Amino acid sequence: MIDVRAMCAIGQRGQLGLDGHLPWEGNTDPLYVEDVTRFFAETQGHVLIAGPKTIASVPEFAFRDRTIDVIRSHEDPEAVLARYPGRRIFVGGGIAVWNVYARYIQNWDITRLPYDGEADRWFDPAWLVGGALRRT
Ligand SMILES: NC(=O)c1ccc[n+]([C@@H]2O[C@H](COP(=O)([O-])OP(=O)(O)OC[C@H]3O[C@@H](n4cnc5c(N)ncnc54)[C@H](OP(=O)(O)O)[C@@H]3O)[C@@H](O)[C@H]2O)c1
Repeated sequence: MIDVRAMCAIGQRGQLGLDGHLPWEGNTDPLYVEDVTRFFAETQGHVLIAGPKTIASVPEFAFRDRTIDVIRSHEDPEAVLARYPGRRIFVGGGIAVWNVYARYIQNWDITRLPYDGEADRWFDPAWLVGGALRRT
């Protein structure tokens, strides 16, 4: 079985992103800083696959000690995962990526932060049961 995981942080109502960044970016409260530190500690040495906007927000240092792969919508998810036999793969988002890859994820590590402001990207609880909500 492939080791496929996800790790994310959400606000009080499921806020995930704002203007291409974390909604709470720049907040120096230790809770927020520690959350980002933990993300990079947990994913170190492993594979991080994510869409182009999410990868664009990954700091330079993180490319040195993990495998980072920008994935695209034309790629077959199973072929993407098969590139990394024996490795732990973190599916890093964003929304369309988790909609498709949710069914392969065995472990979700979610931190709920005290942020309760604006967002333009939201967590979908249906990912936890392997899919995306039908919103039509
Ligand atoms: N709070 C958190 O933990 C967390 C984690 C991750 C991201 N975020 C936030 O989320 C935002 C970025 O996410 P985003 O959703 O806007 O953009 P994104 O990261 O670029 O992810 C979505 C893109 O992934 C590509 N993709 C790759 N494989 C796909 C597939 N099989 N099916 C569909 N699309 C696929 C598509 O781009 P193409 O069609 O161009 O290939 C799609 O538009 C930022 O604000 C970021 O900070 C937050």
